[in-house]
Amino acid sequence: MFPTNILILLMVTNLALGSILDLAPGSDLNTAPGSANKRTFSISFRKNTFIKDGEPYRYISGSMHYFRVPRQYWRERLEKMRVAGLTCVQTYVEWSSHQPNPEETIFKDNLDIEEFLQAAADTGLDVILRPGPYIDAERDLGGLPSWILKNKNINLRTNDPGFMKPVEAWYKILFKKINKYLYKNGGPIIMIQVENEYGSYGAQTGFCEKEYLENLRDLTRGLVGDDVVLFTTDGNSLDLVKCGKIDQVYATVDFGPGANVTQAFHVQRTIEPRGPLVNSEFYPGWLDHWGHQHSKVGSDEVDKTLDEMLRVEANVNIYMFHGGTSFGLSAGSNSDPFLVTPTSYDYDAPISESGDVGEKFWRIRTRIQSYQSVPPVPPTFRNESQKGDYGTIPMRYIWPVFNLFRKYGVHESPVSFEDLRQNNGFLLYETQVSGLFSDPAGLNIPGIRDRAYVYINSRYSSRFVGVLSRGENILSLPLQPRDGDLIRVLVENQGRICFGPDLRDRKGIIGNVTLGGKILKNWKISGLTFTEKTVQALEKLISENLRNGGTRRQVQDQDLNTSQGRMSVWAAMFQLQSNSISQEPLDTFVELPGWHKGIIIVNGFVLGRYWPAVGPQMTLYLPGTLLKPYPEWNRISILEQDRLTCLPYCNIRFRTSSNIDGPTPFQ
Ligand SMILES: *[C@@H]1O[C@H](CO)[C@@H](O)[C@H](O)[C@H]1NC(C)=O
Ligand SMILES: *[C@@H]1O[C@H](CO)[C@@H](O)[C@H](O)[C@H]1NC(C)=O
Ligand SMILES: *[C@@H]1O[C@H](CO)[C@@H](O)[C@H](O)[C@H]1NC(C)=O
Repeated sequence: MFPTNILILLMVTNLALGSILDLAPGSDLNTAPGSANKRTFSISFRKNTFIKDGEPYRYISGSMHYFRVPRQYWRERLEKMRVAGLTCVQTYVEWSSHQPNPEETIFKDNLDIEEFLQAAADTGLDVILRPGPYIDAERDLGGLPSWILKNKNINLRTNDPGFMKPVEAWYKILFKKINKYLYKNGGPIIMIQVENEYGSYGAQTGFCEKEYLENLRDLTRGLVGDDVVLFTTDGNSLDLVKCGKIDQVYATVDFGPGANVTQAFHVQRTIEPRGPLVNSEFYPGWLDHWGHQHSKVGSDEVDKTLDEMLRVEANVNIYMFHGGTSFGLSAGSNSDPFLVTPTSYDYDAPISESGDVGEKFWRIRTRIQSYQSVPPVPPTFRNESQKGDYGTIPMRYIWPVFNLFRKYGVHESPVSFEDLRQNNGFLLYETQVSGLFSDPAGLNIPGIRDRAYVYINSRYSSRFVGVLSRGENILSLPLQPRDGDLIRVLVENQGRICFGPDLRDRKGIIGNVTLGGKILKNWKISGLTFTEKTVQALEKLISENLRNGGTRRQVQDQDLNTSQGRMSVWAAMFQLQSNSISQEPLDTFVELPGWHKGIIIVNGFVLGRYWPAVGPQMTLYLPGTLLKPYPEWNRISILEQDRLTCLPYCNIRFRTSSNIDGPTPFQ
């Protein structure tokens, strides 16, 4: 039986809220009386629709993340979305980028969210804002800043003060900045999401913490006011939607092409019997993982399901409409099994990573046009931009990389990236072993996160032994250690998990290392990270080395035989070909023939990871905005962390077409 005291409490709460929100059955959410000529955005539960300035409003939206597209291209890409017939752009806000540490907040350059919102408004697009704080989005730690993991016992996405306190501080800064862009204040933001597919997390962790969701709702309400539409998004299943649902926040669902649209919206209707139908993430493509085939979704399927949704007057957001790039080391991983996402976030979206459009784009536009008017195609519109054919650049060997590592002292047991407040990159763990061991002795590192090169140095030789990998579940290696040998383990952080119950993904070596069953102690630790400051220092060293000329080194046969696991730095200065005189540099694609796995830096900007050895991404998108026009010099630096099979010289090639669909070991 339903406890009556709770029932009364509910009625009282409803009454109180009802007077503010006009929530009585049959009336509408967030509609102030006489608001027809003011800027208002609300939900009509009577008419099952959104209401904008007093008129019914159905949105057709597309996702584009400002942090994944060069700022200089924001307006051009938004205009393409408008030409496709979209009326809205949906974006996440990525906390980790804006607050790389708790004392520093960044809103400049590619993180100038005000400029992005203004660009959307100028283009005639409304904005659906998804501030997280957790966003998934195939980003490191799902967009949460890794510094919150310094607290070992933190419970992410809960009411744990270790989580909510920094969220509150961040939200206050963020909303102070963007409140003037709310629709009611003259800006483009019509709706704000609370959390992000929380139902999936709750369902997987087995605990739906409503108090947390309500706390986040109240925090958001307190910052934007009661008259802004808040919504949640959850996967298209009753369990997920129930778990993610928050009182007084409108519940929406997400699903892709091929779904049974009737059934999918029936799930939303079970939770929201009245109000607009909304698919907040309709997938025209899908994400990729290194080593697994490139994902593709056909235009026919996309068109068919889009048609079915528009026919029932649903609101749709296409995720992604323009995916862009996970520049730097910002890409995240998925778990169970551990799979790492590549640098490209093309997503097989209607607007490609490099801003080009094709059949899928035009099919969507035609479909939208059959329901509502779309803007004319401007005469300057081109399906593809011209790409730079900048030829082949011979790369020069600079040095092995270990002299760049920053020292963190000696620790009895291994410590993590987060303990050291190192966000990304590599940690080197070194220890000298003593005494006798079995022969061979197994080096066991069950807590390897995520990929490690193991070396053994004796008085006579320094030898690379092999690679450990969390993804491949290779967690041990046989060694033949002698008293006094130095064991060195170089660990790569491949990107923190962004989805599911293993979100609290600390990196480095977690737990102890054993050799022949004995726990190894006294680890000397040093690290190589890629922050603005460390990359500047690295680039300075590289440019000095290039100037001093000691650079032309042909790769020899024997180098190839011994290069595996020898992390090395390579660089080159180059001018764009003179046929580009007086032209702005064009976008281009970098191909890495014979290179194995590593990181590319262009004019001090970390472009991202490459790993053509496993695919499917074979080329990296290099926006022209990162290049300098002729006759200025450009510098490209490469940290090759694995092995080289380029002979006799290691080159990179600039090409005019992308290849993100290369051969992979797995389906
Ligand atoms: C979709 O689901 C509805 C309701 O469950 C069902 O009646 C209908 O047959 C399904 N359509 C298809 C094409 O499977
Ligand atoms: C690692 O070993 C030390 C002993 O050297 C022990 O105190 C510690 O609890 C171990 N850590 C883990 C995570 O097992
Ligand atoms: C490199 O290794 C191959 C295969 O083991 C061997 O045939 C070749 O002689 C080696 N080359 C050099 C220069 O050591």
